[in-house]
Amino acid sequence: MDRLLVTGGARLSGSIPISGAKNSALKLMAASLLAPGESVLSNVPHILDCRLMGEVLEHLGAGVAWNGSSVSIDATTLASEEAPYELVRQMRASIVVLGPLLARRGRAQVAMPGGDAIGSRPIDLHVRGLQKMGAEIHSEHGFLLATAPELRGAAITLDYPSVGATENLLMAAVAARGTTVIDNAAREPEITDLAAFLTQMGARIGGAGTSTLEIDGVDSFAPAGHTVVADRIETGTWAMAAVATRGDVELLGGRQDHLEIPLTKLADAGAAIEVTDGGLRIRQEDRPRAVDFVTLPYPGLATDFQPILMSTLATAAGTSIATENVFESRFLYVDELRRMGADIRTEGHHAVIRGVDRLSAAPVRALDIRAGAAMVIAALCAEGVTEISDMHHVDRGYEDFEAKLAALGATAVREHAGSVFP
Ligand code: UD1
Repeated sequence: MDRLLVTGGARLSGSIPISGAKNSALKLMAASLLAPGESVLSNVPHILDCRLMGEVLEHLGAGVAWNGSSVSIDATTLASEEAPYELVRQMRASIVVLGPLLARRGRAQVAMPGGDAIGSRPIDLHVRGLQKMGAEIHSEHGFLLATAPELRGAAITLDYPSVGATENLLMAAVAARGTTVIDNAAREPEITDLAAFLTQMGARIGGAGTSTLEIDGVDSFAPAGHTVVADRIETGTWAMAAVATRGDVELLGGRQDHLEIPLTKLADAGAAIEVTDGGLRIRQEDRPRAVDFVTLPYPGLATDFQPILMSTLATAAGTSIATENVFESRFLYVDELRRMGADIRTEGHHAVIRGVDRLSAAPVRALDIRAGAAMVIAALCAEGVTEISDMHHVDRGYEDFEAKLAALGATAVREHAGSVFP
C-alpha cells in the first residue's frame, strides 16, 4: 500500500493542466459498447478507474487500445454480457455497462457493487427504470441478471436525480423502440458530455443538461470520436487546495461554468477568482474565512467536494457548518482530520467545523478518493510531515497527482512498499 509523505507549509503557486473528467470518461467508455466498430475517446485521464473500465470492456469482448490520453474501443464483436465481481468490486461505476449491454445484446449480467466507504449505494433506480423499459431483472448469487429481447420507450420519473441511474437509463433508452422521457434526471455536466457522445453515435436526445430528457430510440449506432470534458471535481480540488494554502494557481482548462456554487463559496472564503485565457486563476491572500455549505445534486455543490472543502475550512477563521445531503456516511474520514488537530464535530448529516490556527502532521489514511484529497490539503496546512496511507484511493481519481503537487511547489514523496521514490 503506497503512502504519501507531505510536508506542510507550502503556498501552492503556479499553473497545472486539468485532466479529462473521470466520471465522464468511464461512462463514455461504456457507451462505446453500443456501436459496432471503433470509437476513439481523447482526454481520458490516466487513472486506475479508467484502466479498470478498459478491463471490463475487454472482458465483454471489446478491443481496448490506449495511446497516451486517447483510448480506442473496438466493439465490433462482443463475446460476453458479464461484468464480473472481481472488477465491479474494484470500481462500482462498472454498473453503467448494464444499460448499453441490454441495448446491444438484450442481456446483461453485472455483479452487484456492494457498499463502500461513503455509505449505502443502492441501484434500485437503475433497476426500476430499466424494468419500465421492459427489461426483466432479478438478482442471483450476487449478480444482477437482466434480459430484454426488446427495450420499449417509457415515461420514467426518478425518485432522486441519480447520476448513475440517469446514465444507465439514457444508454438503454437511445436504443429502445419509441420515446423515453426521464423526469427528475441528473443534470451534471458529465451527463451532457455523455449525451453529446451518444448523439454523435446517432442517438436522438433532447434536454441534456436539464431535468427532463426526451429520447427517441434509434435502430443502430455508428462509432464516433469524442473529447472528454474537463474534470470539474479535479478543478475544484486544486482551487480549494489553493485557498487552504493561501496560494495562487492557474488551472488550465478548468471551467468556471461547471463550478458556479463551489467558486462562490471560495469567493466567500476570501478567494479572488479570475477566468483567464487558459482557464481559471484562484488566489487567496489571507487566512480563509469560514463558510457554510450544503451538498446537493448539480448545479448544487457536489458531494465529492464535501471532504475537500471541509479540510480547507479546518484552518479557516471562524466556524463553518457543512450539511451532507447525498451520501449518508460521508463523514467517516473526519476522524482522520481530527488526528491532525481539526476541530470538527458531526451530528447526523451536519458537521460543525471550528477553524484552528494550525493542523499538526500525523499518520492518517485516505479512506476514499475525495477523502484522500482532503487529507493532502490538510497535510499541506499542517506543521510537519504527514504520512497518508492507502494512496491507491487517490490514484483512482486524480491523474498525475504528485506531479501536479510538485509543479505547484509542494513537497510530497511517495513511499512504495519497501522503498522511497521522490
Ligand atoms: C456519481 C459519481 C460520484 C458522485 C455522485 C453524486 C461516478 C462514477 N460517480 O455516483 O463521484 O459522488 O455521482 O454526484 O460518476 N441512489 C439511490 N438509488 C439508486 C441510485 C442512487 O437511492 O438507484 C442514491 C444514492 O444512494 C445516493 C444518491 O442517490 O444517496 C446519489 O447517487 P448517484 O447520483 O447515483 O451517484 P453515483 O452515480 O453512484
